[in-house]
Amino acid sequence: MENYKQKIDEYNEQLEGKSAKEILSFFDTLLGKDLVLASSLGAEDQVLTQLFTSITKDARVFVLDTGRLHQETYDVMDKSRRKYRLTYEVYFPLSESVQEMVATNGPNLFYDSIESRKLCCGIRKVEPLGRALKTCKAWITGLRREQAVTRKSLPIVEWDDGHQLLKINPLATWTEEDIWSYIKDNLIPYNDLHDKGFPSIGCAPCTRAIEKGEDVRAGRWWWESPELKECGLHVKDGKLIRKRES
Ligand code: ADX
Ligand code: SF4
Repeated sequence: MENYKQKIDEYNEQLEGKSAKEILSFFDTLLGKDLVLASSLGAEDQVLTQLFTSITKDARVFVLDTGRLHQETYDVMDKSRRKYRLTYEVYFPLSESVQEMVATNGPNLFYDSIESRKLCCGIRKVEPLGRALKTCKAWITGLRREQAVTRKSLPIVEWDDGHQLLKINPLATWTEEDIWSYIKDNLIPYNDLHDKGFPSIGCAPCTRAIEKGEDVRAGRWWWESPELKECGLHVKDGKLIRKRES
């Protein structure tokens, strides 16, 4: 694994200016079954699913099913499963942990405090992510530079120190417009909520529609201040990478 870590600069130089498909092909050839796409079923991940499955019929895609996703999210998962002949690897939270959390804190604990919200994200997302990432040597995400100030220099390839594996962001340089042109041009199924004012979609109780002109992540954990809005999936150097500069 260390070997991959040492080659990060080389990979980034080699892949500079390459298309998302070329980036995926490069890592598919290098890693085969050890490469896996993390899909939230959001717009970016739908683009990546279409690209990845067009490269290999053995594309591995996992979904963290928190148990609190929108019906629309399951609908797009079902459409994509059929269209791309894909068997999603679905990770659920540990039932004992959810049972204990809900018994102690109630079903809507996330609105009570930051600590309770993080407890829920920890049990429903972060722990299952750890299990998913134990099955591979690299994960692909739909992160983009445009999504947040601190993402301006998001690399195509980085080292995920927390999980000790490669993290690949093939859409790092794409704009929101690029995503939507690609979706429309290629008839890619997408979450109906995107047409109802949801640019960023997470769990149902923690996501709402935004007004025109609002930040794309304004509808996620809207009751919290921006620097706390993170579920812990994306951590860099011990810091949550979406943390806003103030
Ligand atoms: S989050 O950290 O705020 O929840 P966001 O919704 O922006 O993340 O998604 C960023 C990337 O994280 C997605 O493109 C996807 O690769 C991964 N991701 C987020 N949620 C999930 C999920 N439920 N299952 C699998 N991957 C996910
Ligand atoms: Fe729990 Fe909300 Fe985090 Fe989903 S986004 S895991 S419901 S706190």
